[in-house]
Amino acid sequence: MVVNRRILLKRRPKGMPTPEDFEFAEAPMPDPGPGEVLVRNRFLSLDPYMRGLMDAGKSYLTPLELGQVMDGATIADVVASNDAGFAAGDTVWAPGRWQDYAVCKPPPARPPLRKVDTKLAPATAWLGPMGLPGWTAYVGLLDLGEPRSGQTIVVSSAAGAVGALVGQLAKLKGLRTVGIAGGPEKCAYAVEALGYDECIDYKAANFRDALRKACPDGIDIDFENVGGDVLEAVWPLLNMNARVVVSGLMAQYNLTKPHPGPDLTWLLKQRVTIRGFIITDHAARIPQAIGEMARWLSEGKIKTYEDITVGLERAPEAFIGMLQGKNFGKTIVQVA
Ligand SMILES: NC(=O)c1ccc[n+]([C@@H]2O[C@H](COP(=O)([O-])OP(=O)(O)OC[C@H]3O[C@@H](n4cnc5c(N)ncnc54)[C@H](OP(=O)(O)O)[C@@H]3O)[C@@H](O)[C@H]2O)c1
Repeated sequence: MVVNRRILLKRRPKGMPTPEDFEFAEAPMPDPGPGEVLVRNRFLSLDPYMRGLMDAGKSYLTPLELGQVMDGATIADVVASNDAGFAAGDTVWAPGRWQDYAVCKPPPARPPLRKVDTKLAPATAWLGPMGLPGWTAYVGLLDLGEPRSGQTIVVSSAAGAVGALVGQLAKLKGLRTVGIAGGPEKCAYAVEALGYDECIDYKAANFRDALRKACPDGIDIDFENVGGDVLEAVWPLLNMNARVVVSGLMAQYNLTKPHPGPDLTWLLKQRVTIRGFIITDHAARIPQAIGEMARWLSEGKIKTYEDITVGLERAPEAFIGMLQGKNFGKTIVQVA
């Protein structure tokens, strides 16, 4: 029997998840039914939205049931296919989950199984710039942020998967880029590796002063990945007609009480636009995002930054680590 190692949701977390919220289990490798495709996962993407799936409450995604395999996108190899569009040996993007093997349905099932071209970009890049973080950075900055050369953008969680790409794209568009990240090592990485003009440590005692000094002309775009106290610090620095693009709220996902929002008086006075978005609502823009990201990668205009943990059994540790800020760049698990 070929074993399928799997990681299940065992318990709903209270606040920050712990290893005890997950369960390691084994099952036989599944058989694909008519029209289905069996894949073997090579790389698993770990993303903050998975934290929301662990809660029971209403959200834009259906929560996981207890005992279900943790949800997640993978880059996988097709092992066997009962669909004419896929053949054994194809490399695919799959809704493969936290396990070795998955049975997937081809399009129009959603999320769709898609072939990926590893000549266009390496396999793991399809989970980074060519995948969810890339689409989020592309649509959030270029469509919703309305970037203009010479303006100042602030990006929170600057050294994470999305933030690393927003910073690079904003630089390509001629903006002054100021990152916000946790700790001196991460801030140094954001400047030296990712190319931010400056990066401010939100954990430092002088955070608000340092942010003000780094933005002498105010802030025109806030690419908000964090919320909470970080957004409070950004808020009074927003310029007239500033755009706040709310991509995510890392500082708030593990709270047990809602965080109060910033004062709207400033929004009114400064005519600030604040816009939340979920990338799946912008599916029509994804082919263009993939095409442009591939071109920028091949021209060396953007780079991919990855934080790879080896071993499926270490996925809970890597996931909790990402929520706590241990990752530099895109968090990926090498499954096999
Ligand atoms: N809207 C969409 O459709 C969409 C799609 C994908 C992702 N997102 C959002 O984009 C954001 C970034 O996602 P990602 O995949 O790129 O994750 P990531 O930034 O690679 O990883 C999460 C980071 O959050 C930071 N963080 C954790 N707790 C924090 C706190 N209390 N205060 C400030 N920072 C904190 C940590 O960095 P530090 O070490 O700097 O603290 C950590 O590395 C998330 O909010 C996610 O929900 C949105």
